Amino acid sequence: MGKDKLKRFSQLKTFKNVIQPQANYYSSDDPIKGNWCDIFENKNPIIIELGCGAGEYTIGLSRLFPKNNFIGVDIKGARLWKGAKIAEDEKLLNVRFLRTKIDFISKFFAENEIDEIWLTFSDPQPKKPRKRLTSKLFINRFSVILKNNGLIHLKTDSDLLYQFTKDEIINHNYYLKKDIKNIYNHTFKNNTSLKEILYLKTFYEKKWLQKQKSIKYLSFHLGSKKNRYNISKFKL
Ligand SMILES: C[S@@+](CC[C@H](N)C(=O)[O-])C[C@H]1O[C@@H](n2cnc3c(N)ncnc32)[C@H](O)[C@@H]1O
Repeated sequence: MGKDKLKRFSQLKTFKNVIQPQANYYSSDDPIKGNWCDIFENKNPIIIELGCGAGEYTIGLSRLFPKNNFIGVDIKGARLWKGAKIAEDEKLLNVRFLRTKIDFISKFFAENEIDEIWLTFSDPQPKKPRKRLTSKLFINRFSVILKNNGLIHLKTDSDLLYQFTKDEIINHNYYLKKDIKNIYNHTFKNNTSLKEILYLKTFYEKKWLQKQKSIKYLSFHLGSKKNRYNISKFKL
């Protein structure tokens, strides 16, 4: 491992805005579950970015919405380090980073603890549909921690993940809120706030834009808890 990476890993342990559970911790819930209000010292809405990489969205959104709390989740420590360092340098009190696999998300968040989820340039997993973050497997996990009608936002360069997610929305009766095929050709009309949000660029987005890829956006919610449980009982 490179010297820089080692330095970042040890520095990561000292950042107050980073939560790094022990690797063998997953048999029980983390004590943080249900207690994020105490971490942020307020009851403001909590928005999480899953697979946040260097946390550009988490940081960008936290600057735009100082009255909301943001948590970037990723397994890669050296990437998280970048976001955590910016948040520390800028004293962004509404930002935290959680180093874990997304698969264990329900160990860290209680039922209804989350207001919204962002999926930014998630791996499309061409050969493993179950591992896509918008597969039923993951959506079922998200469904528990999300509040009623809590939005899931997907921003992607991948035609495969975009189409797969649209199919999942139809097949499982989720509620599509917004569907934009190319955000940089889109007229936002009266919705300048959405434009400002969607124009935030991540590391991967910049890479794909250089390759002339169109950047797609979907937002959807799963409906009320009551309907959700009926739907899943019916369909599972
Ligand atoms: C293609 S990168 C996108 C990073 C960032 N959102 C961006 O747009 O620059 C996907 C990220 O998801 C993370 N990731 C993928 N699967 C994961 C999992 N199961 N648990 C935690 N992180 C995961 C990777 O470590 C990587 O940082």
